Amino acid sequence: MLNGERLIAKPYRWAMVGGGRTGNVGYKHRIGALRDNTAFELVAGAFDIDAERGKDFGTNLGVDPSRCYADYKTMFAEEAKREDGIQVVSIATPNGTHYEITKAALEAGLHVICEKPLFFEEEEGIEIKKLAEEKGKIIGVTYGFSGHQLLLQMRQMVENGDLGEIRMLDLRYTHGFNATDTESANASQKWRVDPKVAGKAFVLGDISTHTYYMSRLICPELKVKELLCDRQSFIKSRAPMEDNAYVLMHYENGAVGRMWASSVNAGCMDGHRIRIIGSKASVEFSDHQPNELLYEIQGQPPQKLIRGMSYLYDECNADERLGALHTEGLGESWANIYLKFAVAMDAKDRGDEETLKNLVYPGIDAGIEGIHWINTCVKSADEGAVWVKF
Ligand code: NAI
Repeated sequence: MLNGERLIAKPYRWAMVGGGRTGNVGYKHRIGALRDNTAFELVAGAFDIDAERGKDFGTNLGVDPSRCYADYKTMFAEEAKREDGIQVVSIATPNGTHYEITKAALEAGLHVICEKPLFFEEEEGIEIKKLAEEKGKIIGVTYGFSGHQLLLQMRQMVENGDLGEIRMLDLRYTHGFNATDTESANASQKWRVDPKVAGKAFVLGDISTHTYYMSRLICPELKVKELLCDRQSFIKSRAPMEDNAYVLMHYENGAVGRMWASSVNAGCMDGHRIRIIGSKASVEFSDHQPNELLYEIQGQPPQKLIRGMSYLYDECNADERLGALHTEGLGESWANIYLKFAVAMDAKDRGDEETLKNLVYPGIDAGIEGIHWINTCVKSADEGAVWVKF
């Protein structure tokens, strides 16, 4: 159980690129990083594409105005001159900027925490992985939902055979917020359907990458062998960027799966679900009910496994914060992954490869696999919804 005691010697001096006043995801990063005030301190930022607004915002957050920079290049250059300069940067900007900012950050000697989808092309990911290795730095990828500890319970249940042999994965991340042409009035949505900024895909990149990573976290031994993706744009002006996609998967061990990603599932408010079905039992997570798992053993009454209880596996309860009877949610999930990023960076800095080997967190490989997922889905869909090797 976590209780706020420090896990690393000193908090990392942390900066953000993006995540400014109008940004969607920036506050989730700050909630995650600052929840354990033993892990990160926010000391600088290039928070906004609008330099003045970024400075005003950063100052408002309590950052020294002289360390609220007009752009990331200036920030990396100026901070490198300081003895107390930044050590790690989080990148919370639109997709098309991730690669160049990550590269510049590594070259400036910083650890990097970057938003998903990490980059557009796998080759970029491989190049950045090599650069990070050369520089001795960590890349964390903010699959923010993946810090819910009940996912680790699911992982242990799969590993220990509680479900029997895994046969099916039913993955779904859907909502209805883009059932109409929302991009005309919303800048944050507008770039999501612009291939130059968002990449080759909309919902496949925007939401299904989370669910795909979570399925890999739960079932690390299950590898997709081939997939078939059908994608469509119900709001025609979005084409070829899909607002709905269905993906069928064949896994190497004979298991099968499906993913439904959609932002036009009108009215849906609880559409992020992962159900793992084995030969004996099934377990299901819904991120709308992150305090419980549905555990269904064939022939027995359904059970709810409640977060924080001692009957859960130790690997799950290690990330418990508030104890049973009290709710945890997305904020704690982000805090859990940020804490693991800090532990990973600290281990890297100390040359502690043993800790790094045993730490489960979304790193560069998860980011690269996310790119592979998107690009393989797009390839399948664009070739006419055909099976393609993964
Ligand atoms: P947004 O459009 O709402 O906000 C982007 C922010 O970045 C704004 O503050 C903007 O001023 C700033 N910005 C843009 N270019 C910049 C630059 N060159 N330098 C400094 N600041 C810059 O976008 P949103 O929705 O926050 O998404 C940002 C990233 O986060 C995307 O990659 C998206 O896929 C990802 N995301 C991840 C989520 C998660 O749960 N992990 C949730 C939402 C978004």
